[in-house]
Amino acid sequence: MSATGAKPAGAVDEAGAARAVQQMFDSIAPRYDLLNHVLSASVDRLWWWKTARRFKPILAQPDAAVLDICCGTGDMTLALLKHRPSGARPILAADFSRGMLARGAQKFGARQSDAGKPFAVPLEADALHLPLRSASIDLIVTAFGFRNLANYEAGLREFARVLKPGGQLGILDFSEPGGLIGKAYAIYFRRVLPAIGRLICGKDGPYSYLPASVERFPQPPEMLSLMQAAGYAESAWQPYTFGIAGLYTATRSLVP
Ligand SMILES: C[S@@+](CC[C@H](N)C(=O)[O-])C[C@H]1O[C@@H](n2cnc3c(N)ncnc32)[C@H](O)[C@@H]1O
Repeated sequence: MSATGAKPAGAVDEAGAARAVQQMFDSIAPRYDLLNHVLSASVDRLWWWKTARRFKPILAQPDAAVLDICCGTGDMTLALLKHRPSGARPILAADFSRGMLARGAQKFGARQSDAGKPFAVPLEADALHLPLRSASIDLIVTAFGFRNLANYEAGLREFARVLKPGGQLGILDFSEPGGLIGKAYAIYFRRVLPAIGRLICGKDGPYSYLPASVERFPQPPEMLSLMQAAGYAESAWQPYTFGIAGLYTATRSLVP
């Protein structure tokens, strides 16, 4: 197995990797949204929208317990909220970067003027140690966060712990497309993107880390085996935009 988790430059163990990721997101939080939309030409909006639409039947249930983990500045959360009915149970939107979460909370939090409108509750939490009861969640979604976990197997196991048997998991993340498109995209992703990121953000680390983390991230067949081993059934991968990104879906097995 090629990768067990994210490893930012300089990190020697899992605790160090998690700390480096947290500090990196805290440091880029003020510029994160701008950078995201510039670097993806706003295609990220389409990916969040498609992911949310995939889970429409669960989101339409007012009592469904929904967790958006690694919610960051909250755009995935907002896409999920669009499918929640009026008066629905709030979505839990969790992240371990206070800087990112604070920005998200401004977008998805409850407002007094919006009585009955679906909202999310921010939760400062580590995806590998969720402060949630076992078998308490109907749907977990994570967008562009899973790849940053210091241990992918531990992340999948922790999600399986908090999901109810039969609960659904959606992991949206980058991938490396093959063929000619893959070659052209690799040039953009490894050369152009870090340069633009450096320009807007004023520092090198985060946008050199991004392509490196995608390279380390398991390819779909490996990721699907990890999901199966962690107690999920019906795992599948749906490529988005030539496979630049893609959505993993799975059901928490009824029998652990
Ligand atoms: C690339 S951002 C994605 C944010 C958002 N979901 C989106 O689609 O724009 C990744 C987020 O994952 C969070 N994250 C990474 N590892 C985490 C962990 N172990 N626990 C909680 N959050 C984590 C980071 O703090 C960051 O906000």
